[in-house]
Amino acid sequence: MRIDIITVLPELLDSPLNCSILKRAQDKGLAEIFVHNLRDYSTNKHRRVDDYPFGGTAGMVMQIEPVDRAISKLKSERIYDEVIFTSPDGEQFKQSMANRLSMAGNLIILCGHYKGIDYRIREHLITKEISIGDYVLTGGELAAAVMCDAIIRLIPGAIGDEQSALSDSFQDNLLAAPIYTRPSEYKGWKVPDILLSGHQRKIEEWEHDMSVERTRRLRPDLLEDE
Ligand code: ADE
Repeated sequence: MRIDIITVLPELLDSPLNCSILKRAQDKGLAEIFVHNLRDYSTNKHRRVDDYPFGGTAGMVMQIEPVDRAISKLKSERIYDEVIFTSPDGEQFKQSMANRLSMAGNLIILCGHYKGIDYRIREHLITKEISIGDYVLTGGELAAAVMCDAIIRLIPGAIGDEQSALSDSFQDNLLAAPIYTRPSEYKGWKVPDILLSGHQRKIEEWEHDMSVERTRRLRPDLLEDE
């Protein structure tokens, strides 16, 4: 899979995309991430990519020309499954969306900034608008990093034990069961006996029951989503 990210703040994406599992996935050739500076597509001598809004509202607006130039160049080189725009008013990013996008071949992510972007970009160039939650970030870079992380770790081979991606919280609309490691007792705080019993079927039943109980208690909305 290849992800091209278009941004005015490439430096903000450096470390989140080049550490740990995302780095390993790229080193193994499972994913490629390219970060493009939108200013490289400006024709303005000061490399500006924003301008004042028509109609006199406050704030600056990302212009259509550099964005169109950046997206058109990428599209002339390969076919993209989606051209994504990060925005608080987009569709809510969820595990099911990460699963779907992890099967894509090529994705473009345009990071929003300033007051907004010229609406024609959204009307004519973007195929999917995604929000990572109901709060407003200063820009879409951290949202893009969150999406890349959630998507790339799902590519087979990206994490050591594929089972562990399958048993993630949310993967089947249930939160994960509690998990423990040695020592089995610390300051009198004990690991549940069942996990030390060696009885695999009973352990799986217990894990399922705990998942359902935690989901009912902490995220009942997930059970209603069915
Ligand atoms: N840009 C600003 N806030 C955002 C959010 N919550 N999700 C995605 N992109 C954003």
